[in-house]
Amino acid sequence: MNLVFLGPPGAGKGTIAKRVSQEFNLVHISTGDLFRQAIATQSELGKQVQSILAAGDLVPLELTVAIVKERLGEPDIANGFILDGFPRTLAQAEALEELTNIDHVINFEVSREVVLTRLSGRRVAPTSGRIYHILYNPPQVDGIDDESGEALLQRPDDQPEAILHRLDVYQGETEVLISHYRQLGLLRDVDASGTPEEVFTLTAKVLRV
Ligand code: AP5
Ligand code: MG
Repeated sequence: MNLVFLGPPGAGKGTIAKRVSQEFNLVHISTGDLFRQAIATQSELGKQVQSILAAGDLVPLELTVAIVKERLGEPDIANGFILDGFPRTLAQAEALEELTNIDHVINFEVSREVVLTRLSGRRVAPTSGRIYHILYNPPQVDGIDDESGEALLQRPDDQPEAILHRLDVYQGETEVLISHYRQLGLLRDVDASGTPEEVFTLTAKVLRV
């Protein structure tokens, strides 16, 4: 089963993808995580995209498609995958159609207010990418990753200015994919305003139909 997770920044795509990938044995592919790993290792790609991610702009089409194409070429995706944060533009959706087929596009629906609360309280473990929230999913010890003990950080693009810009980019470039995938009969709406457990249950229900 091949899935796309669509939704605004902070909708919970990464959080729910982790649960769904375990439950349905799917590989979780987050383009944001791939770019952040490239930045962490200061690879050529990482140097190219660092300031783009910090500002909340989109990475150019060719670089993004190349990283997805490479990942989809690996053998571990045989049972299926979740693309989290890709595609984000019509051009990316068209490129994806050339690469593989998609069974469902999950559209995580959530209000702007909820997104702002979720992003401003998010903390991440820089090495594993594990996602926390200071109120909704706090670590056992304040500021420390439960498993590795490393210090949790705020993503550079979770500063107020970048959050607002990312929401604008979503509205301007990505939201159009909702009608695109609805027309193709692939869109599955999920109310993402509940607890992570509730959102996971709704998503799993859609996938088991
Ligand atoms: P990316 O990493 O994809 O960021 P995003 O789409 O902005 O989404 P987020 O990761 O911020 O949110 P999420 O929906 O995963 O929410 P999360 O689960 O963390 O992209 C980053 C950047 O990379 C882009 O800006 C761009 O520069 C570049 N990029 C990536 N893909 C690209 C592409 N295709 N093309 C071009 N450029 C690209 O949850 C958020 C918070 O809420 C957490 O604290 C979590 O604990 C909490 N939470 C989650 N669910 C719930 C819930 N149900 N209830 C309460 N709290 C919850
Ligand atoms: Mg994410």
